[in-house]
Amino acid sequence: MKTKKILIIIGGGIAAYKSLDLIRLLKKNNFEIKTILTKSGREFVTPLSLTALTGSKPHENMFHTDEEAKIDHISLSRWADLVLVLPTTANFMSKLCQGRAEDLSTTVILASNKDIFLVPAMNVRMWSHLATQQNVKSLKNYGYKFIGPEKGEMACGEYGEGKMSSPRQIYSEIKNYFYNQKILTQKKLTALVTAGPTREYLDPVRYISNESSGKQGVAIANALSRIGIKTKLVLGPSDSQVDKGIKVIKVTSGIEMLNAVKKLLPVDIAVCAAAVSDVKPINKNTDKLKKSYNQLNNLKLDKNPDILEYLGKTNKSKPRLIVGFSAETKDLIKNSKKKIREKYCDIIIANDVSRRDIGFNSDYNEVHIIDSKGNKEKISKGKKSYIANLIVENILKKFLINDKNIN
Ligand code: C5P
Repeated sequence: MKTKKILIIIGGGIAAYKSLDLIRLLKKNNFEIKTILTKSGREFVTPLSLTALTGSKPHENMFHTDEEAKIDHISLSRWADLVLVLPTTANFMSKLCQGRAEDLSTTVILASNKDIFLVPAMNVRMWSHLATQQNVKSLKNYGYKFIGPEKGEMACGEYGEGKMSSPRQIYSEIKNYFYNQKILTQKKLTALVTAGPTREYLDPVRYISNESSGKQGVAIANALSRIGIKTKLVLGPSDSQVDKGIKVIKVTSGIEMLNAVKKLLPVDIAVCAAAVSDVKPINKNTDKLKKSYNQLNNLKLDKNPDILEYLGKTNKSKPRLIVGFSAETKDLIKNSKKKIREKYCDIIIANDVSRRDIGFNSDYNEVHIIDSKGNKEKISKGKKSYIANLIVENILKKFLINDKNIN
């Protein structure tokens, strides 16, 4: 990929120190970086460290006499392929909302013709304040893109949403953005994701289900949609936050999920992340089952239809790339490779569900991406949104290789 240029605006917050790590990561991966150091950013990061890491002095003033640093706000915004504001403070967001151009950073942003990524970092109360949330809404409507914030322990000692995404997470979002822009300029792609558990009702109040939270599948749908892929999500019972712009079909049972999937075909890419219950009762009792031996003994179960296998075997509107998941407690790789063959998919995302710190219900995951040729790549433990970005990157790489029309 051609070298990409990123303009990083460093805001005034304690998380500013993480910008140095991010710059190192980006430089190591051949990105060109210029920086604007805001007045309050200067309280946390020095011009000297930015110069040492980027190879050029940070821009600080609208008006200056220093010839070397002379570049006007228009050329600076045209130079960049992407603008990143990190950390984005509550105050900075409110300035952007009003369209203020009071210093170099706000003027460059207002004059920019590129996508602008805001990376918020602030105290949980500041983030959840109605005023900030209204600003977030307006900024999204203006077209600003957001990375994070995440939930976690903050520098002030409080816990909650408002923590800045890690340099690793920000880097993966940026990389995906550029990588996928390349693909998307060539073809408009569509994707279908299944996520969450299913519930198979025995009677009006009891059901067979599992511990899936839907978090990983929803994060994948969000990651696909954020890079401009038209994404449809068939979601079992789950409270995971789905991005605006994704078409969501809520379902309860495995049969409903299959029917919804069939209706949403054709798509280019299908990702089956749902933990569909393996079994379902043959009949749902209209009234609550009694404890009597007879009623319980007459419960008859049947296998649920396998949606992933259906997609892999169908001749009608078969997706061009099919991705399955494999949740195992032992022989993870061996069992996952077997699943690729049996379910005719192109990629399997294998995760070990015997661990409590990752997988089902956790905000974290650790996966192996295995393809039908037996290639295997491990993604070590990270937030599910981070894992989702890397999965999407991998999916698109495979898609490029598989699909001659796109090359
Ligand atoms: O066979 P197993 O349930 O382990 O396979 C997991 C993969 O198959 C996941 O991708 C899951 O979404 C998919 N699956 C499905 N329909 C089922 C069972 C599993 O789509 N009934």
